[in-house]
Amino acid sequence: MKKSIVALFAVVAFAGTAFGADVIEMKKGVSFNHKAHKAAVGDCKKCHEKGPGKIEGFGKDWAHKTCKGCHVDMKKGPTSCKDCHKK
Ligand code: HEC
Ligand code: HEC
Ligand code: HEC
Repeated sequence: MKKSIVALFAVVAFAGTAFGADVIEMKKGVSFNHKAHKAAVGDCKKCHEKGPGKIEGFGKDWAHKTCKGCHVDMKKGPTSCKDCHKK
């Protein structure tokens, strides 16, 4: 019982939060289209393991592993430096 209430609360909290910026400008000229990714990927958890919001440990290593990793796996999205880093 307790567990299901917690789970339900998590779902409501998830759906109810601000969905975030449409496009997030990152370091070194990376423009991340959050909105397009939500549509293309669907599952928030692919990137937000612990729920929406700031990602713990986000930065170069995370990005090169997770962003590029998914593009390689899906054979969609940029995998070369200059296609992500416009500056
Ligand atoms: C392809 C990866 C990816 C997917 C899928 C994704 N997000 Fe994000 N999201 C990010 C990244 C990267 C950030 C920026 C994280 C940081 O700066 O710590 C972010 C930031 C956010 C933020 C923080 C506010 C902001 O705009 O900076 C919220 C809220 C959020 N996402 C909600 C969601 C929700 C809800 C979903 C699913 C409907 C979702 N995200 C799907 C990658 C993703
Ligand atoms: C779980 C899979 C996944 C993750 C993680 C992911 N992407 Fe993508 N990305 C895609 C897919 C799929 C496309 C192609 C979308 C299309 O063509 O409709 C794409 C396209 C792109 C594009 C080109 C189109 C656009 O939206 O501008 C850029 C740039 C991009 N991704 C950057 C990033 C960055 C930066 C991150 C990490 C913060 C990231 N992606 C994480 C799946 C992912
Ligand atoms: C899929 C997109 C993508 C690809 C491909 C990619 N990067 Fe990145 N890179 C990012 C993202 C996103 C960040 C983190 C930005 C942030 O922390 O705001 C980053 C961070 C960096 C940083 C650290 C910037 C800083 O000031 O902290 C360097 C340096 C870098 N990348 C170089 C490269 C090089 C060189 C390549 C090619 C071998 C490459 N990147 C390929 C997306 C990408």
